[in-house]
Parts: sequence; structure tokens; C-alpha cells
Amino acid sequence: MTRYHYPAIPESEVTPRELFEQRRRFLKGSLKSGAALGVAAAMPGLLLSPTARAWQETLADQLEGELPSRSLAGEEALTDKKDVTTYNNFYEFGTRKSDPEVYAHRLVTDPWSVSIEGEVEKPGSFALEDILAGQELEERIYRLRCVEAWSMVIPWIGFPLAELLKRHGPTSRAKYVVFESILDPDNLRGQRRSIIDWPYREALRIDEAMHPLTLMAVGMYGEKMPNQNGAPIRLVVPWKYGFKSIKSVVRIRLVEERPTTSWIEQNPDEYGFYANVNPEVDHPRWSQGRERRIGESGRRETLMFNGYADEVAELYAGMDLTRHF
Ligand code: MTE
Repeated sequence: MTRYHYPAIPESEVTPRELFEQRRRFLKGSLKSGAALGVAAAMPGLLLSPTARAWQETLADQLEGELPSRSLAGEEALTDKKDVTTYNNFYEFGTRKSDPEVYAHRLVTDPWSVSIEGEVEKPGSFALEDILAGQELEERIYRLRCVEAWSMVIPWIGFPLAELLKRHGPTSRAKYVVFESILDPDNLRGQRRSIIDWPYREALRIDEAMHPLTLMAVGMYGEKMPNQNGAPIRLVVPWKYGFKSIKSVVRIRLVEERPTTSWIEQNPDEYGFYANVNPEVDHPRWSQGRERRIGESGRRETLMFNGYADEVAELYAGMDLTRHF
């Protein structure tokens, strides 16, 4: 794989120092002693378990430090946080866009562990605080383009998936990475219906998974991840349609053979393995040439690879993207 260099970021895209520091102060307040842990403090009966405190504190400590912030969405304005947290696809809670926000309080994120299995030298099940320990978090502003032709611009907080995978030593047979979301039909009402064959599964080719743009996100808008957006840890692959960005990940498996995924199983004519944002390859039921940016009127042109072509096009050199959609 060729070495990746971030494009130079113009001065205008760097968060002004004052705003940045203001945000740090806000984070300290809301995460360390405020919203996240404050509820427990106010109501002794609701004290968080030691494990939950462990990952939430690890995250709060990391957010307290100087968090580098960079925009990889040019000059485009951030989508309103309210829209990002109330207009969601998270079928575990139902198929309506409003379901996740209404029912996501049922998602149990404490304790949380992620198992890393298959073609790795150091497999195992790891508490989220151990996964977070030593990871350098950063804020990255990415466009998210959904297959249904709407899009958003979101300031994620996370770390490159590559950093996590490297720790576990992928073997030479690791050609693909499979992700699985939480399975908990008692709390996740959508899983009591067979909308898909639960749990939600997604996968990437190993070079896509190792690409520096591929993020494991644990927060957004300066705070820990809201449940409806995939708490406590989710994938973000900004050059692919939104369904690849699997939420609430509990298992990562490295494999040799290309796996199937939930959406391919659901409808192989509509959903491909690659799912790269491509304005030239239409979805069978609608055009992919334009998109509706949530919060804007009118429509925008959809960009090849969602605007990340300079960074990722070489991963697909020589491939027929009409066939490998
Ligand atoms: N992950 C899980 N586990 N379940 C889902 O239903 N929906 C996907 C993706 N990840 C989904 C998921 C789809 S279709 C999209 S567009 C994005 O999450 C939406 O992410 P957002 O709600 O944070 O915008």
C-alpha cells in the first residue's frame, strides 16, 4: 500500500484557537463531571458499574487533552447536531428515521467490550477502556452520504481503525475485516422482527480498513457518541455509502475470504460489497447523481468517492466500478 499523506489543510479550515479552547472547557464540564456522569452522581441508585465508569472516564480523560481537529469537508458547514441525532438509520430500533432517537435509551453500553478475532496474532475480547487506552483521539469533519441520497457533515471524534488493527497483528491471510453490531433483542425492539438477519454485519477489504481515513468513532460534536448514532463505538468510512459505517460494534473478525454482509444478503441487486459513493452508478430505484444535504434546500451534485477521490481512488485502480458497486 502506498503511503498516505493528508492534504495540507488551509488556515481557514483549522478550528480557531478560541473556539477550540471553549470546546475543551465544555467537554470537561459535560464529560468529566457533567451530563455523562452527573446523572449517576445525582441519583446514587443509578451509579454506573465500575466497568462503565472505566470506559467513560478513559474517554473523558482523553477528551480533556488537546484534541487535534481537522476538516476533511472543505468549507462546507456542519449539519445541525439536532438533525444528526434525530434523523437516523439504526434498524435495531425500527425502520423509521425517528425511531432511533425515541428508543435508543434502551441500548445498554455498560459494560462494553469488543472481540478481535480470526487472522490476528493477538485475538481476544477487550474492554472498551483498554481499546481506548493509548489511542490518540482527534476530531475529523467528514461528509456522510447515505444511499437514500441525503447527506450530512459531521464532526466525529475517533481514531484510525488501522491503529487498533495493528495492535493485534493481522496475519498475512487477513484479506477482509468483518464487523458485527450488538445483538440484544430484549432491548433492541427492531431485532424482534426479521428486517435483516441480525446482528447487523458489514465488512471492508483489508486495505480499506487500514486506510487512514477509516475511523473508529467514539464521539461527535465534542461529546461522547449519542446512542442513536452508534454508541459507544462505531465505524466511519467517509467515501462509502452510510450503511457501511456500522454502529455499536462488538466484534471485529479478520478473514481470508470475502464475507457477505447484511445488506448484500438483503438485496444483492441493490447493495454491493464496495458501496463506494459513485454518482455514475445509480441505485436501481433512484439516481445517485445528486443529494439532499440535510438542512439545505435544493440539491447538490454528489462527488466521486464522496469527495475523497484524491485519497482513495487508487485503492480501486483498474477495477470496473459498475460491476464492483
Ligand atoms: N449500523 C447498525 N448497526 N444498524 C443500522 O441500521 N444503519 C446504517 C449505518 N450503520 C445502521 C448502521 C445506515 S443505512 C446509515 S445511513 C448510517 O448508519 C447512519 O448513521 P447516522 O444515523 O449516525 O447518521
